[in-house]
Amino acid sequence: MSDSVDYSVQGPVAVLRIQNPPVNALSQAVRQGLSDAMDRAEGDANVKAVLIVGDGRAFIAGADITEFGKPPKAPALPDLCTRIEGSPLLVIASMHGVSLGGGLEVALGAHYRVAQPSAVVGLPEVHLGLLPGAGGTQRLPRLVGADKAIEAITSGRQIGAAEAHEMGIIDKIEEGDPQEVGLAYAASLLAENAPRRPVSELPAAEEIDWNAAYEGVMKKGRGQISGGAGVRAVQAASELPFADGMAAERELFMEMLASDQSKGMIHAFFNERAVSNLPELKGVEPRPLKAIGVIGGGTMGAGIATAALLSKMDVVLIEMTEEQVAAARGRIEGNLSGAVKRGKISQEQYDALTTKALTVSTQYDTLSDVDLVIEAVFENMKVKKEVFGKLDVVCKAGAILASNTSYLDVDEIAAATSRPADVIGLHFFSPAHVMKLLEVVVADKTAIDVVATGFALGKRLGKISVRAGVCDGFIGNRILAVYRTVADHMVLDGASPYQIDKALVDFGFAMGPFAVADLAGLDIGWMTRKRKAPDRHPDERVPTYIDKLCEKGHFGRKTGEGYYLYEAGSRASVPNPKIPELIAAEQAELKITPRDFSDEEIVRRYMCAMVNESAKVVEEGIARRPADVDMVLLFGYGFPRFWGGPLKWADLQGLEAVLADIERFATEDAWFWKPSALLQQLVAEGRSFDDLNRAPAK
Ligand code: 3HC
Ligand code: NAI
Repeated sequence: MSDSVDYSVQGPVAVLRIQNPPVNALSQAVRQGLSDAMDRAEGDANVKAVLIVGDGRAFIAGADITEFGKPPKAPALPDLCTRIEGSPLLVIASMHGVSLGGGLEVALGAHYRVAQPSAVVGLPEVHLGLLPGAGGTQRLPRLVGADKAIEAITSGRQIGAAEAHEMGIIDKIEEGDPQEVGLAYAASLLAENAPRRPVSELPAAEEIDWNAAYEGVMKKGRGQISGGAGVRAVQAASELPFADGMAAERELFMEMLASDQSKGMIHAFFNERAVSNLPELKGVEPRPLKAIGVIGGGTMGAGIATAALLSKMDVVLIEMTEEQVAAARGRIEGNLSGAVKRGKISQEQYDALTTKALTVSTQYDTLSDVDLVIEAVFENMKVKKEVFGKLDVVCKAGAILASNTSYLDVDEIAAATSRPADVIGLHFFSPAHVMKLLEVVVADKTAIDVVATGFALGKRLGKISVRAGVCDGFIGNRILAVYRTVADHMVLDGASPYQIDKALVDFGFAMGPFAVADLAGLDIGWMTRKRKAPDRHPDERVPTYIDKLCEKGHFGRKTGEGYYLYEAGSRASVPNPKIPELIAAEQAELKITPRDFSDEEIVRRYMCAMVNESAKVVEEGIARRPADVDMVLLFGYGFPRFWGGPLKWADLQGLEAVLADIERFATEDAWFWKPSALLQQLVAEGRSFDDLNRAPAK
């Protein structure tokens, strides 16, 4: 008998208690343990019912994701679920915490399901590029109907016990110790002579317009294929006998498991967790974090303050004038009202946050008690140094001084204080109360417990925190600058910004680079180009056509005109007819004969530029591991999750082919396309970026 499943007999009920911390994933040992325990229960003449229950914080979180990609080991999960369901004994699942994926599928193999009020169930396989592969697509539609099953399977959402009960997934909700609740339920079922009730024997789900459902899901998935496969599996449940439906599900599941998309998404699953686990922070105690200060209440300062308030921290925000104090408060209140509307906080919580927890002032000395200050003033070194000088005077000893700068040198900012060990970069993304990414920028002299506190803050705010070193733009903005540039080069050479945007949206990006530029404000790129102009290498190709639009005060979405035209009050945009004219004029001036680009070439050049710079960022130690770069792009830049990140994408393409393309592009523009030494080294050694994730270079 396996240690992972404890077997005991309580009266007429055999209790199968799964013990595989932290979340009872269905490892081979658990599957074997459950199978053996079923045999044992069936062999005991006194046992009339089986109760399956989870130890610890969950019933079962699903298949063991670490086993995916390894040779399968018996018993297979679908066989186990069928074996449980086929038992002559009455089988009951008592669920608490999460019952996800294979966990819910085990429960659906039971004849009756009881759950705690706080329990949640779901089939999240779609988030791993998969579909339920142990009967979920066959049993769920028999319980809830085709439409609801498709919604659950293709959204992967977690469903609360009350809703699951209403849908018919759970038979009963009962609060108490899950084992006691399960035993009581078993006793009552036995007392009333309740029959075995295999879900597979229920009538098949109704026919729906399967093609319409498939098309709808594929459109929503923006290139992700596993949702569509889920629809086809539910279709099989409706059209085929149960056993044939199971075979169809298996085939689709194996196809998805072998896909690049599931490899990308599984990479994302593990690394979004691993990225904040820094070995050097083990055992380092973060400094206390109760109240924080924010300097500047513009877009970013207001967003950061909102995030902190929503995470139950007191906030003191400093602005320059009373007018700006009112404007900053207005922005924060606007953000928090949005949270009330979405049901994230109550009106009472809103009132408490905006009165008791938030102070907005022009007086720096109100910061004397805060534990950490985040500066979010204008992106200007002189202004930032002045602010840090003042903070150094008013903040208590041990307070952490952080900058939200996008590009500037955090070492130089730290040098403006008498306590550089307490200075760090905390780079949030806009809108800061929504975007998940936080770059924790570690400067030369930053103390280790200050780094630990940066990560602790990120965790408290619900962010994915990634360690970055100091350079122009850190990890994300540095790479962005390069792939934006290649998009500009393609425009100069003949691709239209609209074709580029569309090709990249089709690839899976949330938005194309030119639509993003309009959203962020064209003035930002314009200012950066001006800032960098003095140090520009003569071989660097920088288009100037868009500056002509900026010079006329057109900065994109906020002014109604950029690469696209925006109608006031509408989210729709249309290409700006001035753009092709401006591009043609510049091409004529530069004597460029425009050529056609295929969508495939656009994606390839864009991705190769991104990969090459990402590799340099790892090579220079700005990012510790390739997966750190991947998580930055995923959570800060709308990179399609199903590719796992740029360096996972490169691994999946084959590094040799990626390097060969970069070298070919370098024959046209040697300045821009300098191949990364790390990429060259990996190709020479026949290794992948993922090999470095497992064994970091340093
Ligand atoms: N397999 C292997 N490890 C898992 C796991 C799983 N299914 N689920 C969680 N873990 C691991 C995590 O990697 C993490 O490990 P770490 O501590 O080494 O980083 C640890 O368990 C704790 O997880 P979290 O930090 O995520 O803990 P939370 O409490 O925040 O969340 C959770 C718990 C909601 C269960 C979340 O982990 C989760 O969503 N897990 C994945 C659930 C899932 O996708 N299940 C479907 C699997 S596919 C499947 O079942 C196929 C089947 O249909 C055939
Ligand atoms: P913003 O212009 O919207 O806000 C800056 C605010 O700082 C203004 O309200 C201004 O009144 C205030 N301010 C200026 N000097 C001050 C001082 N000495 N004391 C107190 N308040 C002062 O700018 P935004 O966009 O919020 O950016 C702020 C910082 O965040 C910049 O460093 C920027 O690079 C960075 N950042 C911006 C992102 C974005 O998408 N906007 C994303 C990530 C970082």
